[in-house]
Amino acid sequence: MYIYIYKHLFKMKNKIIKNFKDHPLMENNINKEDVDAIIKFLKKNEKRIFTQSKKVKEFESKWSKWLGVKYSVFVNSGSSANLITMLALKVLKGNGEVIVPSLTWISDIASVLQNGFKPVFVDINPKNLCMNEEHIIKSINKRTKAVFLTHIQGFNGLSENLLRYLKKKKIELIEDVCESHGAKFKNKRLGSYGLMSNFSFYYAHHISTIEGGMVCTNNKKVYELLKVLRSHGMARELGNAEEEKKIIKKYPKLSSKFIFLYPAYNVRNNEISAVVGINQLKRLNKNNKIRNINLKYFLKNLDSTYYQTNFDLEGCSNYAFPLIMNKKSFINREKLENKLKEFKIEFRRGNAGGGNQLRQPYLKNIIDIKMIKKFKHVDHVHFFGYYIGNYPSLKKEKILKICQILNSIDYE
Ligand SMILES: Cc1ncc(COP(=O)(O)O)c(C=O)c1O
Repeated sequence: MYIYIYKHLFKMKNKIIKNFKDHPLMENNINKEDVDAIIKFLKKNEKRIFTQSKKVKEFESKWSKWLGVKYSVFVNSGSSANLITMLALKVLKGNGEVIVPSLTWISDIASVLQNGFKPVFVDINPKNLCMNEEHIIKSINKRTKAVFLTHIQGFNGLSENLLRYLKKKKIELIEDVCESHGAKFKNKRLGSYGLMSNFSFYYAHHISTIEGGMVCTNNKKVYELLKVLRSHGMARELGNAEEEKKIIKKYPKLSSKFIFLYPAYNVRNNEISAVVGINQLKRLNKNNKIRNINLKYFLKNLDSTYYQTNFDLEGCSNYAFPLIMNKKSFINREKLENKLKEFKIEFRRGNAGGGNQLRQPYLKNIIDIKMIKKFKHVDHVHFFGYYIGNYPSLKKEKILKICQILNSIDYE
């Protein structure tokens, strides 16, 4: 009897193997229509202006409309968006502390450090992988300038209580939405709540401009400042003739076109990337819908004995499946990774940005060594959390096969 069952299971496994092709993290994020749009633009553009110009402006305005904000500033990456956002915060508020997540991308922390702020880390909420609200509130003090919150892997990290508290304490909210385009809190898109918000259009994300990022805001002064910071800190980038006139008058000994207000950067993007962005934006909502259906189907078919399936999905806009093991077992972890490798299912351990940032060498001489093991939820994700690809061309049958493979692992 046992031999029969074993043989049957072995056959079943082989059948899955036979029909299973690899599963990359991302597929077809720049498609033929995007390439056609680039070619059309290149052919039509007789003046051959490819540096930041009309198409960049058009993309910014279409993106603002889609997001539900007044202003957007297109930059060359999500990390650049983080960088000029933190510089803008420093210009506006002066130095101090910024409360940051322990689970995020390195540039969220690097931009804080590069601008002279002290990063104050908090643990995550395991239900949405975003910052733990209680920890944020406990970490606020007189030196706090902002909370730089990342909406991780499509999950919403905001709550009524947090927004109310920050408003009461006059602490700025900065949203990193690089992994969550289209996600919502209540009926508004994430990225429309904070003083500034950041997006990434890297290949692996919801939409791609090859490389690219966006900083968004509803505040006109902040918008003008961001444009200046994007382009060497030059006053002529303000786009506000009256303001510019005042500045020129204030510095009569300077050439009016070369007044550098801040020690800033050049993080501009270009017309070709904007053309791709404009084209991709047309299919973003449709793709997000498919990806969210995929996520729900994945979680429904994943065995909750072994993996976390109880995420807070409200308002979520996913682009990569979270795969978090319930049990803290390194033996099981090895079994899982071996299985993923066997079936060529591409994965990243540590969910966003490789897991617990506090464990990364770049923070070695910056944080207290005792901090490293302080946050138990982020550490669980660090050692036992993964993500695997979820893209619009992914079919239900393949998701089911992935779940079958994952559920069939002989865990201890
Ligand atoms: C949360 C978050 N912030 C910022 C970035 C940086 O974006 P980029 O790769 O476009 O520099 C990423 C990148 O994946 C990210 O996940």
